[in-house]
Amino acid sequence: MTIWSGADLICMKRRPALVLENVQVPRGRRADIAILDGRVVHTGAGAAADRVIDCTGFFVLPAAVDVHVHMRGGSQSAKEDWKTGSMSALAGGVTVVVDQPNTVPPITTPEAFLARIRDAQAHSYCSFAVNSSVTPDIPFEAMWTAGAMAFGETFFAPSTYGETLAAQELSRALGRIHALGGLATIHAEGVTPGEDTDLVAHDALRSPEREREAVTAVHACNPGGCRIHFCHMSTAKAIDVAKGTVEVTPHHLFLSREKTWAGDPRFKVNPPIRSEKERKALWTRWDRIDMIASDHAPHTIAEKALPFSNAPSGVPGVETMVPLLMAEVLDRRITLTDLIRKTVTAPAALLGIPPAGFAPGDRADFALYPQSTVTVEPELLHSRCGWTPFEGSRAIFPETVILGGAVVLREGEFSRRNALWYAGKGYVPKTQGQNTA
Ligand code: NCD
Ligand code: ZN
Repeated sequence: MTIWSGADLICMKRRPALVLENVQVPRGRRADIAILDGRVVHTGAGAAADRVIDCTGFFVLPAAVDVHVHMRGGSQSAKEDWKTGSMSALAGGVTVVVDQPNTVPPITTPEAFLARIRDAQAHSYCSFAVNSSVTPDIPFEAMWTAGAMAFGETFFAPSTYGETLAAQELSRALGRIHALGGLATIHAEGVTPGEDTDLVAHDALRSPEREREAVTAVHACNPGGCRIHFCHMSTAKAIDVAKGTVEVTPHHLFLSREKTWAGDPRFKVNPPIRSEKERKALWTRWDRIDMIASDHAPHTIAEKALPFSNAPSGVPGVETMVPLLMAEVLDRRITLTDLIRKTVTAPAALLGIPPAGFAPGDRADFALYPQSTVTVEPELLHSRCGWTPFEGSRAIFPETVILGGAVVLREGEFSRRNALWYAGKGYVPKTQGQNTA
C-alpha cells in the first residue's frame, strides 16, 4: 500500500504556466502570483514556472471589463471591427468587452446574434459578450437562450443607429426581460426638437434636466422591478434619481465643452459633453458611480468632419479608459482600490462572470502599468478610426497584458490567445459549447 505524504501531494501538483513575481497587491503585501489553466492557483512565495515575469516597478492590476463598446464590423468596418476593436481593448488593459447590438443591421434575431458571436470568435483578441437589441418585436426568449448577455442598450432616446422605444414599448419590454430574469441596459435621455448646430446646442437639446426626467420615466415604466443598468450617465442629477446600477464614461468625467471649439463635431456624442460645471458635479457622485465604461463608439475622421448637424454621435475610448484613470491614481486623485472596483469587480459582478483578481481561483487576467505617464497621441492607439478625443491628455498604458494566464500583449506585440465568449445566464447550448474562440 502506498501512503502519500503532504509533501508528495505538493510535488504532484502541476507546475504553474506563469508566475508574476514581486507583485505589489493593492492594500496587501508583495507576493508572487502563480497561474495555471487561466486561474490564479497560488499567491505567496515564488514557485518554479514555465514563464516568470518580474513585476518590480509596475502597478499590477486585474484586467478591466468594459460593459459598453460598439465593435462595429460588417458594413461599418471602416470605423472598427472585432480585430482592431479588441486590440484597442487589450492595449488599454481591457480583456473583456460587452458589444452593443446597434450594428448595421442590428442584432434582432438569434441568427444575427450567432453570426456576431462567430465573427468575434474568429477575430477577437479579447474575451467578449454580446447584448441583444431591444425593439418591440424582438424574440426575447430566443435571444436569451441564444446567449445574449443582457438586453440593450435599449434606446429610450434617439442616438446613432438604434431604434427608439416609446414609454409603452419600454414598459412591455421590461416586463418581458424581467420574466426571463434578464438585465435591461438603458440609454436614458430626453431630446427637445431643434437643430444641433454645435456642442452648446447639442447640450441644450439633450439637457441635463431631460436626462434626469428620462431616468424617472424609465422607473415609471418598470413597476415589475426588472433589473436595470443605466448606460453612460452624464449628470449628477440624473444619477441621483437612478435606482439601478450606474455607468459613467471617461469622456463625461474628463471632457467639457468649454475645453474645445464649440463647432467641433468630433466631440459630438450622446449624451452630450457637458459644461465644466456639470463635469465637476459629476465627480461629486464618484462614490455612487458603480462602474466606468467607455461607450467606445468609433466613427471615421471623414464622418466626423461633416457639418455638425450631419456628423454621427460617438467617440472612441476603450483604449484610453483605464490609462486616463491610472494617471489620476498616480496623481492621488482617485485610489487604486476604487479604480479596480469600478473597472474590474463591479462590471464582472453585473455580468455574473468570474472575477479577475489576485486570490486563488480568480480569473488570471492582468495588466502591468509603468509608474509614469505619457501623452495620448492618436498614433499610439489601435482603433481603426484613427483619432481620439483625448489627444494631449496624460495617461498610463499597460506594457504587458495577460488573458487567461497567457501573455497577449507585451511591448506592443500582440498574440491572439484565450479569448472567450461569455454567454448570458439564459444560454442553452445547441450543437456546440461556448468558449470555443
Ligand atoms: C453610439 C454609437 O455611435 O453607436 N453613439 C453615441 O453617441 N454614444 C450609440 C450610443 O451608445 O448611444
Ligand atoms: Zn447610448
